[in-house]
Amino acid sequence: MNEQATALIQLSKLSRIFTTDTLETHAIAGIDLEIGRGEYVSIEGPSGCGKSTLLHLLGLLDEPSGGEYRLAGVPITEIDAEERARLRNREIGFVFQSFNLIPEMTVAENVALPLVYRPGLKAGEITDRARAALARVNMTERADHRPAQLSGGQQQRVAIARALVGEPSLVLADEPTGNLDQANGDQVMGLLEELHAGGTTIVMVTHNPAYSQRAARRLNMLDGSLA
Ligand SMILES: Nc1ncnc2c1ncn2[C@@H]1O[C@H](COP(=O)(O)OP(=O)(O)O)[C@@H](O)[C@H]1O
Ligand SMILES: [Mg+2]
Repeated sequence: MNEQATALIQLSKLSRIFTTDTLETHAIAGIDLEIGRGEYVSIEGPSGCGKSTLLHLLGLLDEPSGGEYRLAGVPITEIDAEERARLRNREIGFVFQSFNLIPEMTVAENVALPLVYRPGLKAGEITDRARAALARVNMTERADHRPAQLSGGQQQRVAIARALVGEPSLVLADEPTGNLDQANGDQVMGLLEELHAGGTTIVMVTHNPAYSQRAARRLNMLDGSLA
């Protein structure tokens, strides 16, 4: 398959239904979407419309109930869990609203984590790459701290270092500035834009119109569909 000609993300009639005792929620109600390599896409929409669910599906953290998802041409519903995990580790970085760093680990260990699962990388290479990722987000001097010793803005910069350390083709950010004040939010946005300038595809959920309008392409969601 010609990798360059294929859109990085191809969704066809993608759906995700959550079933509980009392309720069936069509969180994603049949979405068709293509996102090319190197695009910078924002997703907006009211609370509960399915933004996080969509990002989790795109990030291979969740599996669709129906439809098709091709990531870099690979039909992810047809590959096994091991191959999906490998693809996730290689291709995807995730940034969450609540940072999601591991509290027991140092900053450097948190950042190195995605590389630990890569076959063939030596310990020295992992350390070097984690240090380089921390330098990119200007957090070198905090390498040996624990997440709880950092401000929210600093924690999110560490989370971005963790997302980029593996040089993923796709970075998914779910309200990455949602828990930050404006100065820290601006910094996080600047880092995402640097990543995009380096060729990384970015898909970002945000409630902040000032941030969404900085994306080249803006998507609007409503009730599990693209508006
Ligand atoms: N694990 C789950 N179990 C049941 N329902 C869920 C689950 N996750 C999300 N939902 C429901 O799916 C819908 C979309 O949620 P979500 O994707 O988190 O929305 P958003 O991120 O746009 O606020 C909501 O109605 C939510 O309650
Ligand atoms: Mg959400």
